[in-house]
Amino acid sequence: MPTPFRWMPDELAALERAGLRRNRREVRPLPDGACEIDGRRLWNFASNDYLGLAGDPQVVAAAHAAIADAGVGARASALVAGRTEWHAWLEQALARFEGQEAAILFPTGYAANVGTIAALVDENDTVFCDRLNHASLIDGCRLSGAKLRVFRHSELETLERELHKAADSRRRLIVSDAVFSMDGNIAPLRELCDLAARFEADVLVDEAHGTGVFGERGRGACEQLGIADRVAVRVGTLSKAIGTLGGFVAGPQSLIDWLWNKARPQVFSTALPPVICAAAVAAIEFIRSEPERRKNLWNNCEFVRRELAQLKIDVSANSVGPIIPIRVGDPDAAVAAQQKLEERGCLVAAIRPPTVPQGTSRLRISLSAAHDESALKQLVAALQEVVSVP
Ligand SMILES: Cc1ncc(COP(=O)(O)O)c(C=O)c1O
Repeated sequence: MPTPFRWMPDELAALERAGLRRNRREVRPLPDGACEIDGRRLWNFASNDYLGLAGDPQVVAAAHAAIADAGVGARASALVAGRTEWHAWLEQALARFEGQEAAILFPTGYAANVGTIAALVDENDTVFCDRLNHASLIDGCRLSGAKLRVFRHSELETLERELHKAADSRRRLIVSDAVFSMDGNIAPLRELCDLAARFEADVLVDEAHGTGVFGERGRGACEQLGIADRVAVRVGTLSKAIGTLGGFVAGPQSLIDWLWNKARPQVFSTALPPVICAAAVAAIEFIRSEPERRKNLWNNCEFVRRELAQLKIDVSANSVGPIIPIRVGDPDAAVAAQQKLEERGCLVAAIRPPTVPQGTSRLRISLSAAHDESALKQLVAALQEVVSVP
């Protein structure tokens, strides 16, 4: 019998030679924004747990209560028999938190983006996608079957030209990250809304890295810029500042009802485990009632950015908030820098193509409210030793 996939070892070796092969290892989460890898304690600057809620004792206690009540799995998709009271409570909590009529849950943020876009546009329509949008937005655009127009990152003139050309399309949907996950910058959301208004398009924004971090109430970058009511669809994830798992859309009842009927990853996947819903409700309550967590996060961001500026370490000029990218160029250099930082007690992600464009491999620092001053000082000292200053 022929060996299946005989090409794979060669292709994997080619990835290895290019410095692009992904390797996995086990990370044990510890309190206070730390973790353990291979028996070593490190500060974790590679997680999206921006508010330190993933291991918060009260969030964990809420999860325990739900496990005792409902077990671990949902047992069916939401529309069949998987939607418990815990799911309904989370939907209500999200709708309230976002100031919307209703909300719908998805198994992941990825599924929320893919499912929502594909439920809103099809081959009669045109979708406009920033080149640096998250893979889930790009995949949603592709899967929808709509004509796909990719515009250079934040280039509004190109977008305007493409919108002009798509005047005959039935519908036009502009899709953007709110906060770009690998660059930490905010999209020109107000300008996107202005263009959408001119060309009768709708705007869909992914607040994955905005929720809990930006805005007075922690609703995200759209809230911060005062344009939340101009954005037709805001997609969120529960897996980052909310510290759990899953995705959601909060919006008008008709949009949510439409997604209940048409968003395939939601219809055809098992519902989120009730335990996740209970934990997410507790986490959202913290975001609502303890804005000081967000304040701590921003203090941490200011501290690190100030220190790095003093050291003349070049962080991407447009990045704001907890995602701080430091470009190093080629993939091997990024991995080597990551290893050196680890030797100095700090876990920082090395990000390589295809996650980012060729030639822009980088260290991606992500900060949390859980980090204390000693963690931040250790990070800055490690970066001073590892990152070369131009
Ligand atoms: C911008 C953005 N959108 C969506 C996602 C997907 O979210 P999830 O991890 O919940 O599937 C991510 C996660 O990496 C992200 O960075």
